[in-house]
Amino acid sequence: VTVDLSTRVGRLTLRNPVMTASGTAGYGAELAAYGDLADLGAHVVKSLAARPWPGNPAPRVTEVGPAMLNSVGLAGPGLEWWLEHALPPLAATGAAVVVSIWGRSAKEFAEAAALLAGVGAPVVAVEVNVSCPNVEDRSKMFAHSPATTAEAVAAAECGLPRWVKLSPNVADICEIAGAALEAGADALTLVNTLLGLAVDPAARRPTLGAGGGGVSGPPLRPVALRAVADCRAAFPDAPIVGVGGVSTGEHAAELLEAGADAVQVGTATFRDPRAPWRVAAELGRWCRRHRVGAVRDLVGAAGA
Ligand SMILES: Cc1cc2nc3c(=O)[nH]c(=O)nc-3n(C[C@H](O)[C@H](O)[C@H](O)COP(=O)(O)O)c2cc1C
Repeated sequence: VTVDLSTRVGRLTLRNPVMTASGTAGYGAELAAYGDLADLGAHVVKSLAARPWPGNPAPRVTEVGPAMLNSVGLAGPGLEWWLEHALPPLAATGAAVVVSIWGRSAKEFAEAAALLAGVGAPVVAVEVNVSCPNVEDRSKMFAHSPATTAEAVAAAECGLPRWVKLSPNVADICEIAGAALEAGADALTLVNTLLGLAVDPAARRPTLGAGGGGVSGPPLRPVALRAVADCRAAFPDAPIVGVGGVSTGEHAAELLEAGADAVQVGTATFRDPRAPWRVAAELGRWCRRHRVGAVRDLVGAAGA
């Protein structure tokens, strides 16, 4: 039996529900050595700002038990460079591209979005990464308040579908998601990393150069499942992309059943650069084994 793996995220149709996750698969065609990027649902590039940004001091990643902790600090070459140098080779792969953008103020989100207005194929959506510091409110990320999340989403209007990537480090993610949808978000990407810390006990200092970091990998999986399920229950019609700890096809099935329309594979790609393709193939086999003819039938199946 053939399985229909296609899915939809809002008005966008994807050939299958498995994408890369921002920041874990490069800016361009870096992973093309390991698989055909056109065979994924979409390729999500690392978050880019309008201008280049140096990011945080090394070391930027470490392991804490089964988790990964990172503090890359959104280092990047800027969107103008990316459009000129990274997009053409990426376009040549035939991949559907989702561009993640960030900014330190609503104005910077608007500047980044403006650079993408009219860019056209292969860019199919913008993912608005609000899990970044807001310089106008030093204590907080945009994602920590409904008002600043809404401001960033509204500022990122550029004609492309806008996905908003939320932080799980909030009291009520549905409140933030509601504000984002109200402000024009076309989809919710759930979730970014959880705040964490690694300590080097002999050196008596944090392991990462920046101090704290973001937790990703296997321990994030139940957190992502919960955020997806809660938002699916609160917003039955909102397109949702689930991300956190996915490393097998079965993990992808879990997130779809919790309510995600598609999933992203992040940390698993550092261990196995072929992970996104493997997860997609495993999901197809999982569906066959469980007599699921269309992957869309899984979406929300585990809901109340
Ligand atoms: C090294 C590293 C860099 C990341 N950079 C970004 C980024 O630039 N923008 C973003 O939205 N998320 C970023 N993330 C978060 C991932 O996209 C993803 O939301 C998170 O890691 C959870 O998924 P995972 O457990 O599959 O990795 C990064 C994660 C890691 C591990």
